[in-house]
Amino acid sequence: MNSRLTILYDKKPCYDIVFDTSFNELLSELKGFDIENRRICVVTDSHVASFYGEEIMALLSGNCLKNVLYSFAAGEEQKTLATVKEIYAFLIKEKFDRKDLLIALGGGVTGDITGFTAATYLRGIDFIQIPTTLLAQADSSIGGKTGVDFDGYKNMVGAFYMPKLVYMNVGTLKTLDDRQFFSGFAEIMKHGLIKDSIFYEWLLDHIYEINDREEETLLEMVERSSKIKKLVVEKDPFEKGDRALLNFGHTIGHAIEKSKNFTMTHGECVALGMVAAAFISWKHEWLSMEEYYEIRDMLVPFSLPISLEDINPEEILELTKSDKKMEGNSIKFVLLKKVGKALIDKNVTDEEILNAVSEIHYVEDFE
Ligand code: GLY
Repeated sequence: MNSRLTILYDKKPCYDIVFDTSFNELLSELKGFDIENRRICVVTDSHVASFYGEEIMALLSGNCLKNVLYSFAAGEEQKTLATVKEIYAFLIKEKFDRKDLLIALGGGVTGDITGFTAATYLRGIDFIQIPTTLLAQADSSIGGKTGVDFDGYKNMVGAFYMPKLVYMNVGTLKTLDDRQFFSGFAEIMKHGLIKDSIFYEWLLDHIYEINDREEETLLEMVERSSKIKKLVVEKDPFEKGDRALLNFGHTIGHAIEKSKNFTMTHGECVALGMVAAAFISWKHEWLSMEEYYEIRDMLVPFSLPISLEDINPEEILELTKSDKKMEGNSIKFVLLKKVGKALIDKNVTDEEILNAVSEIHYVEDFE
């Protein structure tokens, strides 16, 4: 039995998110989109294709005008205009027109590329998200951000373009390796910290079930996390204001990601960034010392780092300044006013950032 959430845009229903533990209900969901009269291109990467490509293609066969699969080599480095161009060429070869449909089957890279292709092919065709990683289910498949990296800059080219449906099968989370799973978990923890202290406590109470990837727990976790993201993106779909709260942990997190040449996962860097931001929140006397240490230490049972060797605080500070979240000369830093309530602070000083990065900088004690 699945459950669903409806994302509103301008107070009107825009698209549904379906939560399930299998793909059993996917076909009946798709039938609501007149697929018998449409061509469908499933866009995926080589890794996800080997897990779910056949299952999804079998499910579509005979139920739509034509179903084709486009698979690109797995990897973040594929998130470029070159991949988008290859998909355009494939769609033209397969005679896709404006009433046809794309399905993004995979993680954040696949969702972002497919969404951007859908936003721009023939000035926009419909697309559906089937996120198969926790990062994509918790974050990137909700809210209509699409795009690609450009010239070394992350998400530099893109569009806000809403999917017609997001189908989350939490069963797919069981095939993720631990690093990928916990990378997505960092965004879930973030949602609790910025908006919902009860959900944050619930996560801390379910360490074992989450680590065991117990299906019912995953379902509840992804659904509750999505409700938080829904509230934020409905209020501010184009990130003119409060949507920036979702960047909690991301200012320093992105800087670490860059300084480590993207060898760490996004979630690992966000976890470190959340520790640093919580530290600044404590120094502002918004969080108590106990709350700060709890936030920090509770990342450990979820296999997320809370400190790092080999970082240069000065380099991290410089990198935070080249982040997209700069406005004029000040960084829009997201801090916690309390657990479950974030705010944007444009007055965080260089010294505060340096101290926070020093806090997460692990230096071996040779005493
Ligand atoms: N991942 C942040 C957002 O959707 O705005």
